[in-house]
Amino acid sequence: MTRGRFITFEGGEGAGKSTQIRLLADALQRRGIPHLITREPGGTAGAEALRALLLDSNLNWDARAEALLFAAARADHVANLIRPALADGKWVLCDRFLDSSRAYQGGAGGLGDEQVMTLHDIGSDGLLPDCTLLLELDPGTAAQRAAVRDAGASDRIGAKGADYHAMVRDRFRELADKEPRRFVRISGDGSEGDVHARVMHALEPLLALA
Ligand code: TMP
Repeated sequence: MTRGRFITFEGGEGAGKSTQIRLLADALQRRGIPHLITREPGGTAGAEALRALLLDSNLNWDARAEALLFAAARADHVANLIRPALADGKWVLCDRFLDSSRAYQGGAGGLGDEQVMTLHDIGSDGLLPDCTLLLELDPGTAAQRAAVRDAGASDRIGAKGADYHAMVRDRFRELADKEPRRFVRISGDGSEGDVHARVMHALEPLLALA
């Protein structure tokens, strides 16, 4: 049995990741490719419990505590869901992963990339995706979409200011440009179908081998 593929979707709030993951899962289903959808923080019972703590607006984690908790959630997710699924030949489609910690805690939170990568080495033995799709949308449209989705009740991190989210966006772009073999930058402009076509085009090399 061949190892599955690990595909992550990244981007700021309201970039359309969840919709695009669902459309990709439908496309894999039609091709008979075994897969699962998961998300971070979360994906396992332990990591979902940490998610509730991380996103609770009544708690006030600083960037270090946040990064440790995200890394702990990720460690559980990687060990108990992602690695077993890949070993089982499944494609794992994950809504956010390590690069969110690099952009949010490492970039906007000021912790730095090296520290985030060290936590990832300790927690998850440095597992990296086969392909990371960065969905990019202009800030105005993204904020509007996130507001509609959250109906005025954004989580603790989503509720941070525009400056914080601008830093997240910039950091994601820098990460993608530094690692062009793993990342593909995808414009979120246009219809869901337009964006899905870009996603499928980006994954052609991997799909050809499936
Ligand atoms: P979601 O709304 O896309 O499910 O993500 C939850 C929030 O957590 C979102 O504001 C991004 C943030 N986040 C981080 O700050 N660091 C991380 O490592 C991950 C996975 C998410």
